[in-house]
Amino acid sequence: MIKIAPSILSADFACLGNDIRRVEAAGADMLHFDVMDGMFVPNISFGIPVLKAARKCCGMFMDVHLMIEKPVRYIEAFAEAGADLINVHVESDSTDNLIAALKKARLLGKKTGITLKPATPWEAAAPYLELVDLILIMTVEPGFGGQKFMEDMLPKISAVRRLLDETGKDCMLEVDGGINERTARLAADCGADTLVAGSYIFGSSDTDEKIRLLRGNNRARGKRNI
Ligand code: DX5
Ligand code: ZN
Repeated sequence: MIKIAPSILSADFACLGNDIRRVEAAGADMLHFDVMDGMFVPNISFGIPVLKAARKCCGMFMDVHLMIEKPVRYIEAFAEAGADLINVHVESDSTDNLIAALKKARLLGKKTGITLKPATPWEAAAPYLELVDLILIMTVEPGFGGQKFMEDMLPKISAVRRLLDETGKDCMLEVDGGINERTARLAADCGADTLVAGSYIFGSSDTDEKIRLLRGNNRARGKRNI
């Protein structure tokens, strides 16, 4: 079944605990936590203290998406704050430093991920394949919620799905940006198995229905090859 990861970037920060408990009660599979440093992306969001607080108020798996420069500097801090999976951008540092970051996260008992911006070719994930549990394809430019899904990313999702199937790698394939009930289906049909959704989920008071629609509209993965 498709996994749903609500992004708290679109939550109501004045009532963050309530919003987190609401998506947990609605059966979300993990909480997507968007960390932005104002350097790697042109926006600043939240970081370690907010992750600690979120960790205390729910039992969900914490999927931490680091949109920061040189993430190797902060792996321990996010691990200690309660991350379950630490995800770094392929564009955020040298290959050697990113490998060091992923190894550090694994040594600390965390799952790991690597993310590709829209302009980054899927082949850029290859050096990290043995070190990650998740590959994230961005379907918007990282930095802001509420943007339009880039349909020209669909072939990239299919290419990564083929890579994972051909190598037999047990690795989640996550898509992030502009996900709604229509684009969820497009992504899932190309082989995505984990969908991040921010504004679509938190923009509605009917959280159960939104999560159900994201899941319910998805047919079995891998039926369409773009
Ligand atoms: C963008 C973030 C996304 C964002 C998704 O940089 O990585 O997780 O919150 O928001 P929506 O679902 O509104 O596009
Ligand atoms: Zn994200």
